[in-house]
Amino acid sequence: MAKTSLDKQKIRILLLEGIHPTALETLNRAGYHNVEEVSGSLSEDQLCEKIQGIHILGIRSRTQITSRVVDAADKLMAIGCFCIGTNQVDLVATLGVGIPVFNAPFSNTRSVAELVIAEAILLLRGIPQKSALMHRGVWQKSAKNSFEIRNKTLGIVGYGNIGTQVSVLAESLGMHVVFHDVTAKLPIGRAHAMASLDELLAAADVVSFHVPETPATRMLMTAERIAGMKPGSVLINASRGTVIDLDALAAALDSGHLLGAAVDVFPKEPKSNDEEFISPLRNHDNQVANVLLTPHVGGSTVEAQENIGVEVAEKLVTYSDNGSTVASVNFPSVGLPEHPGSHRLLHIHQNIPGVLTEINRIFSDKSINILAQYLQTNEKVGYVVIDVEQQHSSIALAELQQVAGTIRTRLLF
Ligand code: NAI
Repeated sequence: MAKTSLDKQKIRILLLEGIHPTALETLNRAGYHNVEEVSGSLSEDQLCEKIQGIHILGIRSRTQITSRVVDAADKLMAIGCFCIGTNQVDLVATLGVGIPVFNAPFSNTRSVAELVIAEAILLLRGIPQKSALMHRGVWQKSAKNSFEIRNKTLGIVGYGNIGTQVSVLAESLGMHVVFHDVTAKLPIGRAHAMASLDELLAAADVVSFHVPETPATRMLMTAERIAGMKPGSVLINASRGTVIDLDALAAALDSGHLLGAAVDVFPKEPKSNDEEFISPLRNHDNQVANVLLTPHVGGSTVEAQENIGVEVAEKLVTYSDNGSTVASVNFPSVGLPEHPGSHRLLHIHQNIPGVLTEINRIFSDKSINILAQYLQTNEKVGYVVIDVEQQHSSIALAELQQVAGTIRTRLLF
């Protein structure tokens, strides 16, 4: 019988942008050694050339995967974004040619949570202001407006992956935790849900945002809502830059309504380290405010990079080894068990009526016994996985390739 499942040594992998070495280690451990690494990103023209013959591509946020790059990719079967966002990839074009895209949405949750807790402590002690004053030669030793976080109330807006981690860390330091989310969430530890955002704002000494960017969270913190925060409280945002009206926040800090703020994300962020950072929160009139500004580094730690390397490489290995697309950002999600002893056929097709009927007709006409079958579709693409006895796989694969609407097929064993 012809051997059609691609030898791992023949699977060519290209990793761009200096992806953390944990990715290569993970790929090697799984038997993938045909890996080329490039430290920087490539232009569209360079990538169109370089991508030929590549089966698996790893990128970070700077490499643009345009529809031209997708068209130029003759062998590509999967893309791993070794980062959180996937805006740099044309997800429609990749889906159209049956290429699943994977990323690492949760590898840096702990990093963000730790920063938020540290900021809560520093802000309630007035440290940003004291430190800035000392750099100017001012010694202001006083306990005024300096508080412990123990027994204070933390209000978490958005009780998802990061919000819940912040909740656990805050309780372990003796804080009371309240939260507000648009969907019903089971509280962790002794945290409890508030009926509304306004109720949370009125109760919390520290308010921290962990929401996604949606039309509903855009400018969620208006001047009116900031005015509804407890006097002397502090505000932290390490979620998305559009959530807070920064002019209103600057005014609330100037007036003394808020004790301080820590902001990691901004509506308009410099595109590179060479561009100036412009914001109403920057020192104005030589005033030294109790404000911590950080350049969108909430999730940027060495540990997060290590985790991202492992998480994305594992997803690519799993897809290549057994066809599983769980947690792909653009593809129908199919979770698959191992298939010892049998051969596995992967069939990616346009989601048009009749394809599944046609597939099942082939198996029935050829009297091929289906050991297991999995199907998932989204509005554009259908993904069928069929396990069959080894002696039938070649003929079944040849037949499947003829089905109208087929985008691509693979055989695994
Ligand atoms: P998640 O999706 O796990 O949690 C978000 C939560 O917010 C969900 O529970 C959702 O129901 C809730 N939510 C949505 N709309 C809401 C609204 N209008 N009001 C209240 N709750 C609402 O997301 P995750 O992983 O916890 O990330 C949270 C945010 O942190 C995201 O915006 C993400 O982009 C950002 N982030 C920032 C990083 C940084 O470097 N500063 C690093 C990683 C994530």
